Amino acid sequence: MDGGPDIAQRVLRWRRRHGRTGMPWQGTRDPYRVWLSEIMLQQTQVATVREYYLRFLQRFPDVATLAAAPLDEVLASWSGLGYYSRARNLHRCAQQVVREHAGRFPADSVALAQLPGIGRSTAAAIAAFCFGERVAILDGNVKRVLGRALGFAGDLSMASHERALWRQAQALVPQRGVEQYTQGLMDLGATVCSARRPDCANCPLAAVCVAYREGRPEAYPVKTRRTKRGAKSHALLWLCMGEQVWLVQRPARGVWAGLWSLPEFADVSALQAQVGGWPGRGEALPPIEHALTHFDWTLQPLRWRLPARLGPVRRDALTATLPPGRWFELQYALQMGLPAPVRKLLSR
Ligand code: ADE
Repeated sequence: MDGGPDIAQRVLRWRRRHGRTGMPWQGTRDPYRVWLSEIMLQQTQVATVREYYLRFLQRFPDVATLAAAPLDEVLASWSGLGYYSRARNLHRCAQQVVREHAGRFPADSVALAQLPGIGRSTAAAIAAFCFGERVAILDGNVKRVLGRALGFAGDLSMASHERALWRQAQALVPQRGVEQYTQGLMDLGATVCSARRPDCANCPLAAVCVAYREGRPEAYPVKTRRTKRGAKSHALLWLCMGEQVWLVQRPARGVWAGLWSLPEFADVSALQAQVGGWPGRGEALPPIEHALTHFDWTLQPLRWRLPARLGPVRRDALTATLPPGRWFELQYALQMGLPAPVRKLLSR
């Protein structure tokens, strides 16, 4: 294949000199730690992950501790990292490893990929890092690196083309040094071979890169069916009484699933209709803009303070008309698994 063996050797050589080192999840072959770091790194920058990773390990030092912990605690430790389905799958995966594998992660990529939240590429990364398995990874970054280097013209929104790229990626995996090669590809994709402004002058693959030779690295990888971003807006009720705040647990599916949050309404008028006749007073706060994978979300918070002397009976009659929830002392509310923008709001 064009430049085949060259690609791996070039990545390996570059990794030795320029790869990222000194990360707390490097230098271990403990699948629990490698798995945790790979899940965190999927959608989060290295600098952010570092802090969360160390804190998470202090709280949940091994897979048995994680499996035995209440989901709420796992979500609380994840709070701020986003993409909370990762945390729920992490918890389910730990329980499955304990229940079905006697607390030991399976030692090959095919078995790892059967576990909740572990896709083919993540399974391959764990197997390469922990067990030296010669297996290809192909996450979004690596699709870009290899798609460009190989000049892979197939449209990756079609499964047949994606399979073809997997086959080529597998053919590139070197006989020796799969751990460093795998990490090198990830590092290249995260730094030099960026989506919009690839730094081809400093790329070890430039000499063999088809996209570079063609003068159009940004044209790869080819993907015609892009997800269109939408926009949504909702209103949030920040109901408080003294030092207490009313939180509801979000449904198990959808955005911020399972996290504690403020009651959400279709819009400000629906919220006004709810609190209209209530004692106390409301204050509209500046809207929060929050970008999610598929849409931009505008949240319009209204803080409603109930009079501190309202008394529990009248208070409970009011909250009975809200989605089911609980009163929390603010300091305890902030220890729950809250979406990052809600945490920020409540910390004002
Ligand atoms: N993204 C996913 N896994 C990674 C890793 N091991 N190092 C850097 N970025 C990554």
